[in-house]
Amino acid sequence: MNIGIDQLHFAIPRFYLDLKTLAEEHKIDADKFYVGIGQEKMAICPHDEDIVTLAVKASKPLINEQNRQEIDTILLATETGIDQSKSAGIYVHQLLGLSPHCRVIELKQACYSATAGLQLACAYVARQPNKKVLLIASDVAKYDVNSSAEATQGAGAVAMMISVNPRVATVEALSGCYTEDVMDFWRPNHRKTPLVDGRFSTLMYLKALEQAFNNFKNQNGHLDFSAFCYHLPFSKMAVKAHERLAKLLPSAESASLDNALIYNKLIGNCYTASLYLSLISLLDHEDLSHKRIGCFSYGSGAVSEFFALNIQKDYKSALLTASHQEQITNRSPLSYADYLTYWHAPETGEMSNSASGSPRLSGIIQNQRQYQ
Ligand code: CAA
Repeated sequence: MNIGIDQLHFAIPRFYLDLKTLAEEHKIDADKFYVGIGQEKMAICPHDEDIVTLAVKASKPLINEQNRQEIDTILLATETGIDQSKSAGIYVHQLLGLSPHCRVIELKQACYSATAGLQLACAYVARQPNKKVLLIASDVAKYDVNSSAEATQGAGAVAMMISVNPRVATVEALSGCYTEDVMDFWRPNHRKTPLVDGRFSTLMYLKALEQAFNNFKNQNGHLDFSAFCYHLPFSKMAVKAHERLAKLLPSAESASLDNALIYNKLIGNCYTASLYLSLISLLDHEDLSHKRIGCFSYGSGAVSEFFALNIQKDYKSALLTASHQEQITNRSPLSYADYLTYWHAPETGEMSNSASGSPRLSGIIQNQRQYQ
């Protein structure tokens, strides 16, 4: 049975900070960011945007009158949850007006959980071929101001409709996994921002890639790939990952990564959504009909997976490229001072209106989030 991604779409905040502005403020060479880590801009949420509003904006174009009845599961992957108990997906479910006969859960394992969601959704649809799963990855990546990780922030959501006979890509059943208990990046409950051992995290990422790929290969996974997508905390990480993979799989060397990096360089890290943002970037900018793509998902802590997608013949007709490009073009740059204002999001009260459209987080009143 062919199961996979029928359609996918991203949403990003209306604002960004150019890393040249950050470099000027910190009095360092902007090339450290533009060249050294390979990032140009990072998406910044105003106070009335969060993982819920981004998730709704990413999902809306995928929903029509027919599939509204068929969606019976929402999986929302995030590592920047807004509540320790209630799933952010319940707000999304309500704002999208989906059937009350729908299960909704939140998935967490750092940046990896959307891939777990993809596998769970495919397995579920194999049992229930008449149903569809709305899988959403949504995160606001925030690090401490003035830390070395500050330039690798970002925000965004990717929504994917998982179904039988998908128009965009089928997901192969075989995948290679690697899990190891490490402290490279984590966020204890009392903290708003993560703790990160930056250099170690990059080494761990590369180790996990090797291990997950070898696990894929040792199960006799086919190794004929036309293109690759990686989890993208910053684009230089994928360049290093690709060089490492080419040592294990020499045929990978000829596959260019350029098109898979375009959106991420302009948006930044969006944790669970980053790999899928890279996939959208690749699909929007290249003709991959009938091609096979190798994907690497990494979530600190750490869990990783190497898996394969088969791109469908007429996939271009299901893409929402115009919306992606419009969102990037229509954003506004922030001054450093405004970025700092937005960074310090209030934890209670009315939220100032950034005219970010519908829906917006209008306030947190009596510890309850209000969306308009
Ligand atoms: N011109 C060009 N290049 C320059 C430069 C300049 N003027 N100045 C520095 N560079 C280069 C450096 O040579 C270096 O290149 P190499 O990595 O190839 O050696 C690169 O710019 C970065 O410089 P530093 O290593 O000095 O940077 P840093 O230590 O200040 O910060 C970082 C880098 C550790 C990745 C930091 O941004 C960080 O901690 N980020 C968050 C953690 C992260 O993203 N980890 C990735 C793996 S974990 C993961 O993937 C999960 C997740 O999403 C978090």
